[in-house]
Amino acid sequence: MPPQHNPLDEHLTRVLFAKEDIRQRIDELGKEITRDYQDKNLVLVGILRGALVFLSDLSRAIDLPHSWDMCGASSYGSSTTSRGHVQITKDVEVDLRDRDVIVVEDIYDSGRTLRAICDLVRVHQPATIEVAALLFKEKAQRASDVFVKYRGFTIADEFVVGYGLDYNEYYRNLECIGILDPKIYS
Ligand code: IMP
Ligand code: MG
Repeated sequence: MPPQHNPLDEHLTRVLFAKEDIRQRIDELGKEITRDYQDKNLVLVGILRGALVFLSDLSRAIDLPHSWDMCGASSYGSSTTSRGHVQITKDVEVDLRDRDVIVVEDIYDSGRTLRAICDLVRVHQPATIEVAALLFKEKAQRASDVFVKYRGFTIADEFVVGYGLDYNEYYRNLECIGILDPKIYS
């Protein structure tokens, strides 16, 4: 079979996870969540915009009735390092009271975004809150520690794009996840 070619892939120095790796891992996470939430009242809360792709695949890998909603946070601007301040751009609209929330995020990096969103979700008085992150960046130190129960892949501390993750709002549509060539942003 010829290799899948996407012109945007030329902007990557390395593909970390191909489409099929991602699909397989999300199926596993979906099964795990399906087992854990049998007698619960599940709502997935995705964080705009990066978690959109992950949320839509994760939801369909969960074999239970559940709801979903999106909330918004922005921290990065157009650079590749965190600005350090998280702004809430959209609150949750689905009623979370007494329900079992999983906050769905594309990547756990400094932890600031997840901390801010978990605090936001807690105000809506759900019964339980857990976190699912597709990527878990390994770091010596984090600004905020958040317990991430469902982890897709652990990666080194490098800037990655694809499958929802952007640089300057581009590359979100890549089917794979890869390391962005530093010549693009330096
Ligand atoms: P944190 O608040 O530092 O944990 O950053 C979380 C947000 O920054 C994520 O929701 C992503 O949108 C973005 N982010 C962090 N690391 C990367 C990366 O390697 N590539 C693209 N976006 C990233
Ligand atoms: Mg982003």
